[in-house]
Amino acid sequence: MAPNINPTLPLLLLLLLFTLHLSSVSAWKKEEFRTCNQTPFCKRARSRKPHSSSLFATDVAILDGALTANLRQPPPESPDQDQIKPLLFTLSVNQNGVVRVKIDEDPSLDPPKKRFEVPDVVLPEFESTKLWLQRFQTETVDGDSGPSSVVYVADGYEAVLRHNPFEVYVREKQGKRRVLSLNSHGLFDFEQLRVKQEGDDWEERFKGHTDVRPYGPQSISFDVSFFDADFVYGIPEHASSFALRPTRGPGVDDSEPYRLFNLDVFEYIHDSPFGLYGSIPFMLGHGKARGTSGFFWLNAAEMQIDVLGSGWDAESGILLPESGGRIDTLWMSEAGIVDTFFFIGPGPKDVVRQYTSVTGTPAMPQLFSTAYHQCRWNYRDEEDVENVDSKFDEHDIPYDVLWLDIEHTDGKRYFTWDRVLFPNPEQMQNKLAAKGRHMVTIVDPHIKRDESFHLHKEATSKGYYVKDATGKDYDGWCWPGSSSYPDMLNPEIRSWWSEKFSLKNYVGSTPWLYIWNDMNEPSVFNGPEVTMPRDALHYGGVEHRELHNAYGYYFHMATSDGLVKRGDGKDRPFVLSRAFFSGSQRYGAVWTGDNTADWDQLRVSVPMILTLGLTGMTFSGADVGGFFGNPETELLVRWYQLGAYYPFFRAHAHHDTKRREPWLFGERNTELMRDAIHTRYALLPYFYTLFREANTSGVPVMRPLWMEFPSDKATFSNDEAFMVGNSLLVQGIYTEQVKHASVYLPGGQSWYDLRTGIIYKGGTAHKLEVSEETIPAFQRAGTIIPRKDRYRRSSTQMANDPYTLVIALNGSHAAEGELYIDDGKSFEFKQGAYIHRHFVFSDGKLTSSSLVPNAGRTLFSSACVIERIIVLGHSSGPKNALIEPSNRKAEIELGPLWLRRGKSAPVLTIRRPNVPVADDWTIKIL
Ligand code: NOJ
Repeated sequence: MAPNINPTLPLLLLLLLFTLHLSSVSAWKKEEFRTCNQTPFCKRARSRKPHSSSLFATDVAILDGALTANLRQPPPESPDQDQIKPLLFTLSVNQNGVVRVKIDEDPSLDPPKKRFEVPDVVLPEFESTKLWLQRFQTETVDGDSGPSSVVYVADGYEAVLRHNPFEVYVREKQGKRRVLSLNSHGLFDFEQLRVKQEGDDWEERFKGHTDVRPYGPQSISFDVSFFDADFVYGIPEHASSFALRPTRGPGVDDSEPYRLFNLDVFEYIHDSPFGLYGSIPFMLGHGKARGTSGFFWLNAAEMQIDVLGSGWDAESGILLPESGGRIDTLWMSEAGIVDTFFFIGPGPKDVVRQYTSVTGTPAMPQLFSTAYHQCRWNYRDEEDVENVDSKFDEHDIPYDVLWLDIEHTDGKRYFTWDRVLFPNPEQMQNKLAAKGRHMVTIVDPHIKRDESFHLHKEATSKGYYVKDATGKDYDGWCWPGSSSYPDMLNPEIRSWWSEKFSLKNYVGSTPWLYIWNDMNEPSVFNGPEVTMPRDALHYGGVEHRELHNAYGYYFHMATSDGLVKRGDGKDRPFVLSRAFFSGSQRYGAVWTGDNTADWDQLRVSVPMILTLGLTGMTFSGADVGGFFGNPETELLVRWYQLGAYYPFFRAHAHHDTKRREPWLFGERNTELMRDAIHTRYALLPYFYTLFREANTSGVPVMRPLWMEFPSDKATFSNDEAFMVGNSLLVQGIYTEQVKHASVYLPGGQSWYDLRTGIIYKGGTAHKLEVSEETIPAFQRAGTIIPRKDRYRRSSTQMANDPYTLVIALNGSHAAEGELYIDDGKSFEFKQGAYIHRHFVFSDGKLTSSSLVPNAGRTLFSSACVIERIIVLGHSSGPKNALIEPSNRKAEIELGPLWLRRGKSAPVLTIRRPNVPVADDWTIKIL
């Protein structure tokens, strides 16, 4: 994190300060960031007492297919108390169990300006799934003086607007059990924009920065309750446990709320509710009694969220009808409007589907980007790149992407090259491409304010920069020194930015070059809390405070669009971003930023990535090895073993650390890291199939155990283990010198050790011996995993390799699985150019059929065959299998589970069935 710097200090002093910033070994500087107490809107909201909201609904009607009302307050008791103007309330219902509730100021009552409503996040397709409500019913809740209005949501579900006191909830029709509610505790508050009068002092100061706040306080807060929930999850990004711990209530000492405010945090700690680089205001509740529900608040201003521990409201003396299994939360935002979505579930995958029906499913990545990435700040020059590249080959380690950090540029002017260090960038990329490899360069949002830099000249003359509160181009400090930031909220500026990625404009780039967006929170070393001042101004007069959490999202969007344009709409983009917001999953991958090389950070990477996956951002990972510091060798090896299962698998390190490419730690450790990377490469067909599942349904690649076993309570707070798809369970090893680990294997079926094939009973915890060779990983009985077992230099070179299927039989001697294949890079899959196979094993017979609707093989074909089929859990004995329709026989023998990994007991193997992967066929064990 950067120190505060007065821009008028002489350059030398600044350089010194930056050097300190880069090389400092001091830990997280808590005092640089605001606490809730130092954030007036948060402090005010937290101090409100339950049932202090006196709002009530009037004029309830159906208008444009939605339920509408005015929210009013009783007249104030004394004349100096504020009277709020009526607010507009709209409740609409979308297909598949989504309820949207909006509350905003009434434009006909002349607010000083329109409050910011985040555009470009809700999918246009979602808007078209709106159910056109025709009527509402009225009922009176026991003890209420006024009525409640009830509308249909989905089969078995209704939404209720309770007029007085104002409350909204979704409930089950039968039995009227609540699912989710808003304002049940009367904490709703909405500060309306004001016009400054004589004597109004709205300025806020923090660490020498003043925020002028021209419209006065404009925050919104309310409570949301998740019924029948044992835990709540979501709201990244925090380095904390997966099941969110209460931040207030009995037994919680002085905790901050979970903060959503995109920040560049230097050396973040591993267990804290403080805000990090990205924000997704989406929370899920899950419980054994009912299942899963979700709540999303589309709002890009700073948000703070309290999870209220049971008994938090004891003093109020008022209890809701159902208090058991309910989790209350308090949502507070500095600005914006109420635009909220209630997701009824009832299963975890349903909620994720509902959320991604609003914000979009994850983009389908290029196949190469799902493989292993090698990064470091910095690979120094072309020779360094060439050396690293050839060492991978020498050590027989596959990798797909080599990354260049900020030092490759000419003085941190993005889209340029330091021509002394990188005289022939195209040639360098072409050499990598000859081995099927790719390169990624960094492009950050801060533009060096240098009159001779064309990008700066152009942005200045076109007026494309974000403005400060006085209307001048905002000038902040980042890597290049004095910098300005393109106003990515403006579609015209995004379009201008996207043109910069064309091969013509980005001189030295090739079609094999992809992009890394860093520092896009945005990071401003001399700004308040290392970011842009809240009173900076964007397109349309939007204040930065209203938009802050989405700035990085728009930057990511513009960059990703740039790569699409560069490839004429034919090449899927790959853009890694540090900052993110709801919807970022449509534009690429994210990573968890500047972690540290220690065991706690290895451990917290799992809940962090699980949380990202649950909230749409499935393509995510943590820096393997830890960014800051030098990992001990054992930690590095364990990190590779875990990282091989992250959806995004990249090693990265700070420039002050020692070199740590996988061959630098002695032959044995090279072997262990190679083995971890090989495992990932063998599993790429499985991962790619899962990315496609995420792309069609939102269901994440890496999932919590409870997503597969939703009624198994023992899984609800387990964030040391995770599922990759529905078939693999992985348990990280998070301490050194471990000899044993306790691994909980859920469900009624067995599990097969991924490496040895040894079978373990499900529904119980096992104490297992742990070796240095691998972290525990298991294939679930009843599943089929596709693999490619030949190791090449890169994933691209594996394109025509044959497949292996690993069938793990369950108690009924059955199993099933899928395999998705397309060209790995274009958008033609959207037109149906793909193969999607369904494999079912039952009664001793494996059947392959197509999952493609109207399956024809004309749009995409593959000549690949299946060369090996391993059947786990089958008695040995059979010698032959019959392949139909070709009416051929294949031999069955006992063979190794992995061709090159350690020893395992021999397993039943159908040798060389060589059936085309694209065809329908059956193979019967005789
Ligand atoms: C901060 C990023 O988080 C880190 O990954 C990168 O190496 C440095 N910026 C330098 O670009």
